[in-house]
Amino acid sequence: MAMNKKIIVGNWKMNGNGDMLNVMTETLKGVDLSRATVILCPPMPYIGAASKSPVDFGAQDCSGHEPGTSGAFTGEVSAAMIAETGTKYVLVGHSERRLHHGETNAIVAEKAKQALKVGLTPIICIGETVEERNAGQTNAIVEAGLRECVPGKGCIVAYEPRWAISAVSGGIPATPKDIQEAHEFIAGILESMGLAGTPILYGASVNGDNAAEILTLPHIDGALVGAKSLKPADFFPVIEAVSNL
Ligand code: PGA
Repeated sequence: MAMNKKIIVGNWKMNGNGDMLNVMTETLKGVDLSRATVILCPPMPYIGAASKSPVDFGAQDCSGHEPGTSGAFTGEVSAAMIAETGTKYVLVGHSERRLHHGETNAIVAEKAKQALKVGLTPIICIGETVEERNAGQTNAIVEAGLRECVPGKGCIVAYEPRWAISAVSGGIPATPKDIQEAHEFIAGILESMGLAGTPILYGASVNGDNAAEILTLPHIDGALVGAKSLKPADFFPVIEAVSNL
C-alpha cells in the first residue's frame, strides 16, 4: 500500500461558493499531485465544475431510491446525474447524514449500490458516537457499518469517529493509537468479507500538522478532511504532507 498514492478527500459540507471553488481549483493547478489522489467534494450545485478541475470531484451524497437513474423523488439527485457531470466519487453515510437525516446502514448500502451501478466510487463513511465508544461498542458499530454498508468491491471506506470530528462540539482528536487500532480492526473485517485492499481513509480533525503522522500509520490509505479543506492555505499542507512521507 505504501507505494500507492494516498487519497486526500476535501469534504466541504454545506460551505463555500462558486468563487471559493474557482480559487481552490485554480490554485490546485500549482500543487504537486504526483503522490496524492485529491478529491474535492463541494456542495451539489458546484459539481459541474468537475470537468474544469485539475483534481477529481466527489458529491456529498446521492439518492438510494430505486430504480436509480430517475424518478419522482423531489430534491434527490441520482448517482447517474452525478456521474454525468464528470464527478467520479460520492460520499455516502457521512455521520452528518446519519445524524441530521436519519440515514441507517441499510439506506447507506442502497446509496452505495446505486453509485457502483453507474461507475461512481462510493466513499462509505462509518464510525461510532461518543456514547457508543464509552459503552465499549466501537468495534461492534464499526463491524456492522462495514458488513451492512459495503456492498462489494470498488468502494472506499472512511473511518470517522464521530466524537473526533472538528464540528462536533467538545470533539477531541483521536490519538494515533486509537486510529491505528480502529484501522487494523477495519482491515481485518474487510479481509474477512473478501474485500482486502479496499482503501481505508481516516477522517476526523485531520490538518496540516497531524496529517503526516496519521498517514504513515498502517492501514491508512488517505484522509477525509472537513474544516481544513475549505481554504488552500489549510488544505495544501495536508496534500503536501503526502509528498514528505
Ligand atoms: P473535520 O471533518 O475534518 O472538520 O473533523 C471531517 C468530516 O466530517 O468529514
